[in-house]
Amino acid sequence: MKTKQRIGILTGGGDAPGLNAVIRAVAKAATLEHGWEVLGIRDGFDGLLDGRSTIALTPEVVRGILPLGGTILGAANRGNPFARQAVVDGETVVYDASDETVARLDALGLDGLVVAGGDGTMHIVNELLAKGCPIIGVPKTIDNDLGGTDVTFGFDTAVNTATGAVDKLHTTAEAHHRVMVVEVMGRDAGWIGLYAGLGGGADAILIPEIPYDLDVVCAKIARRRAGGRYFSIVVVSEGARPVDGDQVFRQDDTSKARLGGISHQIADQIARRLEVETRATILGHLQRGGSPTPFDRMLATRLGGAAVRLAAAGRYGRMVSLQGAAITSVPVAEAVAELKRVDPAGDTVQTARDLGIVFG
Ligand code: F6P
Repeated sequence: MKTKQRIGILTGGGDAPGLNAVIRAVAKAATLEHGWEVLGIRDGFDGLLDGRSTIALTPEVVRGILPLGGTILGAANRGNPFARQAVVDGETVVYDASDETVARLDALGLDGLVVAGGDGTMHIVNELLAKGCPIIGVPKTIDNDLGGTDVTFGFDTAVNTATGAVDKLHTTAEAHHRVMVVEVMGRDAGWIGLYAGLGGGADAILIPEIPYDLDVVCAKIARRRAGGRYFSIVVVSEGARPVDGDQVFRQDDTSKARLGGISHQIADQIARRLEVETRATILGHLQRGGSPTPFDRMLATRLGGAAVRLAAAGRYGRMVSLQGAAITSVPVAEAVAELKRVDPAGDTVQTARDLGIVFG
């Protein structure tokens, strides 16, 4: 007869600084406070379906990982059990592997599963809940676009990196009298762009929520030049688009639509229109890497501890969340109901506008 509880933990989607802090908190709280066994599932849902070996997450195993970026469990290539891809006779086929996922979780003998992930992963969790899997969600994404929580861990670290880059680009922009266009992550939401732009003192911030008109950006740069400010900083989210155009995707990837390169287009257009020197910088995955900030370590640790308390209370189907200063929880279904995007009429955008920053 089984007496000791066994929970699993899996990280879904792209990595975010703070994942290891969650893994450590779950492993320590579950074993030290409750005497449970904790199994780490490698490489997300892909690893589970591929039958990769699990890791027994004892307190010894998670020792020292709090300040580490990445995830000791590995991140899969955004595998979705409901639309799993396989190559059959040279052709890529998509099929539903959700029943197999449930069977594999059953085979591990888990009483519950903690899944750290962003919007895509929480949608998967929501569907697995409908199939009876006992899961607790932990909100993670540098993009900060997951609903049901005020902030996701990883965001603060990404903003730190992006703001530091804007600071550095400021000095070289000023020295060379150039316009620097900085491209940050943010597929559908401009949180990183808004925070790094406002925190780094940008002159224009272009985000997915506010389609831009380049005339407005050029007019701002021209006004600065007329006033003796010969450099400017434009921060643009990878997912931004002009009022009369589309998002910019990379051309080199046939399998998956990957955003990227809008900063080069904008820099070229500004150079042509204003006859100024411009340069584009794409920060890319730098924003996902490195040691989590103290804020993200704290948030991830608190969320991990709260996830174990929910499991102990048998409250599956919920996602732990930060609301105000408190950690609480919401139904996973509520978290995935709507993507959390920047409010163009909100106080942060308004403050940026009051300070003379244009959104195009
Ligand atoms: O979801 C977070 C994110 O950082 C997006 O902003 C970005 O488009 C995407 O991940 C890129 O991820 P990957 O290169 O791992 O597919």
